[in-house]
This record gives sequence, C-alpha cells and structure tokens, in this order.
Amino acid sequence: MHKVEFLDTTLRDGEQTPGVNFSVKEKVAIAKQLEKWGISSIEAGFPAASPDSFEAVKQIAQAMTTTAVSGLARSVKSDIDACYEAIKDAKFPQCHVFIATSPIHREFKLKKSKEEILEAIKEHVAYARSKFDVVEFSPEDATRTELDFLLEVVQTAVDAGATYINIPDTVGFTTPAEFGHIFEYLIENVKSDRKIIFSPHCHDDLGMATANTLAAIKAGAGRVEGTVNGIGERAGNVALEEVAVALNIREDYFQASSDIVLNETVNTSELVSRFSGIAVPKNKAVVGGNAFSHESGIHQDGVLKNPLTYEIITPELVGVKKNSLPLGKLSGRHAFVEKLKELALDFEESEIAALFAKFKSLADKKHDITDADIRALVAGSSVENPEGFHFKDLRLTSNEDGTITAQVIMGNEDGEEVDIIANGKGSVEAIFNAIDKFFNQTVKLDSYNIEAVTDGIDAQARVLVSVENVDTDTIFNASGLDFDVLKASAIAYVNANTFVQKENAGEIGHKVSERDYPSND
Ligand code: KIV
Ligand code: ZN
Repeated sequence: MHKVEFLDTTLRDGEQTPGVNFSVKEKVAIAKQLEKWGISSIEAGFPAASPDSFEAVKQIAQAMTTTAVSGLARSVKSDIDACYEAIKDAKFPQCHVFIATSPIHREFKLKKSKEEILEAIKEHVAYARSKFDVVEFSPEDATRTELDFLLEVVQTAVDAGATYINIPDTVGFTTPAEFGHIFEYLIENVKSDRKIIFSPHCHDDLGMATANTLAAIKAGAGRVEGTVNGIGERAGNVALEEVAVALNIREDYFQASSDIVLNETVNTSELVSRFSGIAVPKNKAVVGGNAFSHESGIHQDGVLKNPLTYEIITPELVGVKKNSLPLGKLSGRHAFVEKLKELALDFEESEIAALFAKFKSLADKKHDITDADIRALVAGSSVENPEGFHFKDLRLTSNEDGTITAQVIMGNEDGEEVDIIANGKGSVEAIFNAIDKFFNQTVKLDSYNIEAVTDGIDAQARVLVSVENVDTDTIFNASGLDFDVLKASAIAYVNANTFVQKENAGEIGHKVSERDYPSND
C-alpha cells in the first residue's frame, strides 16, 4: 500500500479555462477549502504572468498552514525569481519549473535542439534549487516525447536537484497502458540517491484523463496533479475528486490511499463551480446531481432493499448532506447563517443582511428551500458595477410584426434609475440589446445556458452566460438567478458586462497564461 499526495492546480491550469477569471479573494477562498479537503500542495498560479497572479500566489502562500504552495515558472530565471518573491513566506514553499520536450514543441515552439533543452533544464532546475528546497520539474508534452530522450530529460532534472518529476500529458494524447508503461520505465531507470516522486498531469482531450492518472498510480506514481471538477483549457484536466474516490473505493486494486477528506468533496466542488461559473454536469462522476439518484424501478427497488445493490459510493462519503437543517418561511437569521456555514459558503458579515432578505423573499414563493437553493442564492448575487448600478426590473411588449420590445430598468443604491428600451427578434435578444445600450461597450455573447436549480414547478432558474470583451479577447463567465428565466438572463448578462467594464477600467487584470508566452527564452 502506498500513499499518494495530491497537487491541485485549479488556480493555475484550471484558471486557463476560457471564461474563468477568479478574483484574488476567490482564489484565497478556494485555497482555504482545498487545504480543508486535504490537498498536500496547491499550485497557486504563475507569478510571472501578471501582477494579479503574483498577488494571488503571495496571499495564498501567507494563508496556508499545512498545505505546500507552489508557483509555475518557465525555464527562465526571472520567472523563478518572481516565483520566489511570491512564495517565500509560505510555510512549505515549492517551485514548478517546466520546458517543452517533444519534437513538435522543440522544432516549432522553442526552436531548440535536444542538447539546448537539456542545458536549459540543468541550469534552471539548479537555479530554482538555489532558492527552494523543493523543486518540481515538468517536461511539457512528455507523452509525445521520445522515451529515451524523456529519460535523459528527467535524469538531468533529478541530477540538478528536482524532487518531484511531473509527467504531463499536455494534449490528452496518451492511453492508460502506454502511460503506465512510461511511469514504470522512468521509475525503474532514473537513478538517484534521494527519493524522487513521480506524478501524472493529465488532460482530458480523449476522455481518458482519470484512467490515465490511475494507471500512473498503479505503476508507482506518488503524487497526482489535477483540478476540482476537471476544469482546465480545452477538455480540461483530470478531476481530482474522481481520482480520490476511485482510490478509496478500489483500494484493493490500486493498493494506494490518499489524505483527501472525502466528505469535503461536494463542498469543494460547489465552491469551484460557483466561482468559475461552470456548472457541474448532472451526470458527472462523483459530484454530479444525478450521481445518487436512481430513476429506474428495478434500481429503486434494489436500493431500498440494500443501497449497495446499485450504489458503490454513498452520498455521505463525498459529503452530500441530507438536509440536516431544513429552512423554510419561519426560519430566522441565525438558522440561515448556520446553514451558510454548514454549506461552507464564504460570506462577509456585511453581506448577511442582503442575503437574508433574498432568502426571505425566496421563502415567500417556495415551500421547501433546499441546500441547492441556498447555494444558488449566494452564487446568483449581482456584481456591483463601478457606479453601483444593478439590474432592477424589466418589462416586455410583443409587437405586431413579431418582434419584442424590452424595457430594462437599472438602478443604484441612491435610488437613481435608468430605463433603456430596445427591440429584438425574441425576448432574450431584446433584453440583451437594451443592456448593450446601457453599457455601450464591445462584447460578444459566446454562450447562454439555462438550468433549473431544483426539480418542480417552483424551481429557480439559473442562467449562465459567457461573454467576450472584444477589445481584449478575455472571456468572462457570469450567472444570474431568479424565478423568472428572463430576469435571470438579464442579471447574468448585466453581471458579465460588469466584469468587462471592470476590465476596461483596469479593476480586473487581463488574464495571461503560459500559452501567451511564445517560448522559454
Ligand atoms: O499541461 C501541461 O503540460 C502543463 C505544464 C505547465 C505542467 O500544465
Ligand atoms: Zn496542464
């Protein structure tokens, strides 16, 4: 039996998902929840990428008490210096140095020979080791790198002082058998008098990220890298909750265990979903809404007789709570605040009054208020725009020619109101046209999704939109919540436009990822 450490890169690789732009405050809240979940290392960001990224890594480094904090650095001294400045106050600091090693990256991206790559690894891993006791090295696109060269690369990094060797399947290309073989080969052939820990870092382009990660563990990997809910660019990274639960349920097969506090899994997943604006699909393994519902009569009958007939994961294992503190019309402020705490929903004292008022208005309309309603209520808050304006109301008129006229009312705390009128071919188009007139900025709607928060006719509607700031190419996800689908749509679109407005005003830094850097020079 061996222990597998977990490195979470939700705040670095996960943030590379289009539309995901965590604020510094959100990043710190996620990091605290990851620590509670039992994550051993957090890759908090890429400090050299932007002042915002630097600041988030610095604040997380100061906030963690048991979890190690790592920052990403290209094989460039100034990146390693930035990483050191951001992370030096961490209790357990780590630095993650990477360079691409596959033929296609060597030839087209880096324009470097094999020898130049080996030289860069030697120099920069040693430089990182002069500042950090613990250094991780990644050969980017490892799974498309010649195996004999990959061994040379890894041996060079180990000789230069790396402790963790991460093998990224950067483009989600490998298969479980192939990936397991890479780990067996490296573990057997890399020579060192120190303990070297190997880790998989899988992307999900072919839907094999979890299988590939587990194959690496079976072959001896001592740490795994991934993100919560599997967020990440393209098809995303491996979902860490799937790996943690698979190790728990199939410990007999993998002969490996982790320190993940499994009953914090759903809270962790909900928090990341809320801040990323990415809903967890209903059929998602481990944390999806349907993971514990049994539709067919045969299944229901079996589960009633003995849950183990069709349920290998109990809801309690991952922290799905039976409404232990049900809320309703008569619940007071104290019970409401207790519920927010039970659901690990972070909130400021100053926000409670507004949230409680929203809860009361919800309780007037809906008899049973579920945990999902409370989570949605907190997530669906309006984003304050610089002048304090938010969506207030809307009215729609159907015209004889089939078009719709929308009157959108925006208001602020001082009681000022602005009415904007616009037409559209349908209701949503008319509403969005009116909001566009209000903000007067160049945005493009990338996606629009509606979901019901709970079952039943009295369900609240949650609308998720992705909007692109055409001037900067940044995509922002935002959500809106209301009983009325059209009002929820308006709130989501106003929130997204507010993010764009804040970016244009310099209040939100433009997101920079390592892909924006053409090379490791
Ligand atoms: O997928 C990848 O190759 C990465 C590296 C930077 C580790 O994220
Ligand atoms: Zn990655």
